[in-house]
Amino acid sequence: MSELIEVLTKDGSYSLRSVFFQENFHSLLGALGETKSKFTATSNLQRFKGKSLNVLDICFGLGYNSASLCDELIKQKSYLNLYALEIDKKPLEYSHKNESFLKLWDPKVKKIFASLYRKDYFEDQFFKCNIFWGDAREKINIIPSSIKFDLIYLDGFSPQKCPQVWTIEFLSKVREYLSPQGYLITYSSSAAVRKTLRNLGLEIFTIKPIFKNRISWSQGTVAISKFDKNKFKPNFNFENLSLMEEEHLLTKASIPYRDQDLNSSKGDIIRRRLDEQLFSNLLSTNKWREKWGMTKLSVKS
Ligand SMILES: C[S@@+](CC[C@H](N)C(=O)[O-])C[C@H]1O[C@@H](n2cnc3c(N)ncnc32)[C@H](O)[C@@H]1O
Repeated sequence: MSELIEVLTKDGSYSLRSVFFQENFHSLLGALGETKSKFTATSNLQRFKGKSLNVLDICFGLGYNSASLCDELIKQKSYLNLYALEIDKKPLEYSHKNESFLKLWDPKVKKIFASLYRKDYFEDQFFKCNIFWGDAREKINIIPSSIKFDLIYLDGFSPQKCPQVWTIEFLSKVREYLSPQGYLITYSSSAAVRKTLRNLGLEIFTIKPIFKNRISWSQGTVAISKFDKNKFKPNFNFENLSLMEEEHLLTKASIPYRDQDLNSSKGDIIRRRLDEQLFSNLLSTNKWREKWGMTKLSVKS
């Protein structure tokens, strides 16, 4: 599964490309930049200054999202209980020894990553971190159901390349672990993913793009079960969906990925959805694209 090629992204940070999934781990514009603007800035971490939080990082990969999270939490002296899920140990094997990756963060991140690599575990006075190796669809069950997460990062390959981690059934399991005020954050702005999250009873928001244009209209999605509208602040990194984004959810692109027993192959999940799209009366996604002059999003490369 894991033939990986090193990629230098435009902001100078290193990433990988998976030959098996035929996709990059990060946007070529910058692995570090992507993590910071989509995941870290969106998390509103200052809420947890001096306090404790539970975080679940699904599709840990090289660990940029967790490393950036730890880096910020070290500075503000928060207490972290982190769980990570990942099918392949090779990306961590690469990142925990890569000096250009490690120099991006507080030296404690190096210790955490070395310990996760050797023992799947790290603990000190402030942080407790666990990583479970294997298919996230199965390994998520090891996490005690009593734990509710303040933040869930979902950073799988794009739904077309790795639909297994974007299905109704998997997302519904993930949702059970989200605390009432918790944020589920993903770079994906796929209509299927958004519609699924909304159908699971979550309020969904768009992560504001750095520069809004026809190609780059969103940086991803935040889903929250009980969002207090009074807490919306102008400096939040996310906002309500635009009319264009709402209309996207009325098209055939919003038909979900399904995986009833959580063990289907990629091919089966994609085929089932294509069949459902073929017989659907929903609006054509091309019509929506034409109306709004939009280009496809939600891919890493
Ligand atoms: C886009 S990359 C993750 C990027 C990552 N957050 C980082 O900082 O490097 C997707 C990751 O999902 C992992 N993956 C793919 N299928 C998976 C599955 N079913 N369960 C868990 N991890 C999976 C891949 O091995 C890969 O590391």
